[in-house]
Amino acid sequence: MSAAIPAGYTPAAGLLQGRVVLITGAGAGLGRATALAAARFGATVILLGRTVKKLEAVFDEIEAAGGPQPAIYPMNLAGTTWADIFELAETVEREFGRLDGLVHCAAHFKGFTAMTEEAPKDWLEGLQVNLTAAYSLTRQCLPLLQQARDASIVFVTDAVGREPKALRGSYGVAKYALEGLVKGWSQELGATPGLRINSYDPGAMRTELRARGFVAEEVQKLPGPDAAVAGLLYLLGPDSAGINGQALSRS
Ligand SMILES: NC(=O)c1ccc[n+]([C@@H]2O[C@H](COP(=O)([O-])OP(=O)(O)OC[C@H]3O[C@@H](n4cnc5c(N)ncnc54)[C@H](OP(=O)(O)O)[C@@H]3O)[C@@H](O)[C@H]2O)c1
Repeated sequence: MSAAIPAGYTPAAGLLQGRVVLITGAGAGLGRATALAAARFGATVILLGRTVKKLEAVFDEIEAAGGPQPAIYPMNLAGTTWADIFELAETVEREFGRLDGLVHCAAHFKGFTAMTEEAPKDWLEGLQVNLTAAYSLTRQCLPLLQQARDASIVFVTDAVGREPKALRGSYGVAKYALEGLVKGWSQELGATPGLRINSYDPGAMRTELRARGFVAEEVQKLPGPDAAVAGLLYLLGPDSAGINGQALSRS
């Protein structure tokens, strides 16, 4: 079965009321836009990222808009260990007692590079942030997600994760691996009622990541990350119940 985000999807008010959602890369770009929107639709959001100032700004915006009080969890996914992630999952359980959504937005991309040119450090960091950290975080949070009545895990990917292209280096390889991870893991998790795991390609957006690879004037013409948020709200909320193991894209 293949699935799509319904065209023109409009989330109902209170779509995520009472839910706790952890978002990586929440300080900028799509992660920031998703955190603000999820809070607007009722979720308590845990803002994970590496730059505390950016996370604090998102925290303040949510509070100023009257959303449920968010939480900040600073973490540099490039240097994180299993123990750090175990501690994160324990903290979420202790502080919130539940987890209903996990959205992997954080990404490491330094620009276009040939496979033979990517610095060994960047290769390792690309696989660590874009693949291994997302896997580890999901694995450690899984027991909590499995206790929720209706839980959703979303890996934000990229068109090059589905149709590999030259010069994407470790970023492209990691995104391609994530698509495979979603397919295999979703089959294993199929036995858990109410838990789904999907990938989501947000399409081209005007963000810092995009600006590292493309011509500035072209990037300026792109829609901002808000354009891709409805798809993530759809995947986080009950309207996507039953959609599992799918590679979805912005509608
Ligand atoms: N923009 C596009 O055109 C496009 C297209 C297809 C897919 N995507 C995907 O969309 C997602 C969001 O990207 P974006 O365009 O919104 O990028 P962005 O604006 O650059 O945001 C990326 C976020 O990831 C965080 N991050 C990077 N390295 C990290 C690390 N080591 N530890 C913790 N956080 C880290 C950044 O934190 P700092 O702010 O502290 O650096 C930032 O908050 C990514 O998964 C990307 O692959 C984007």
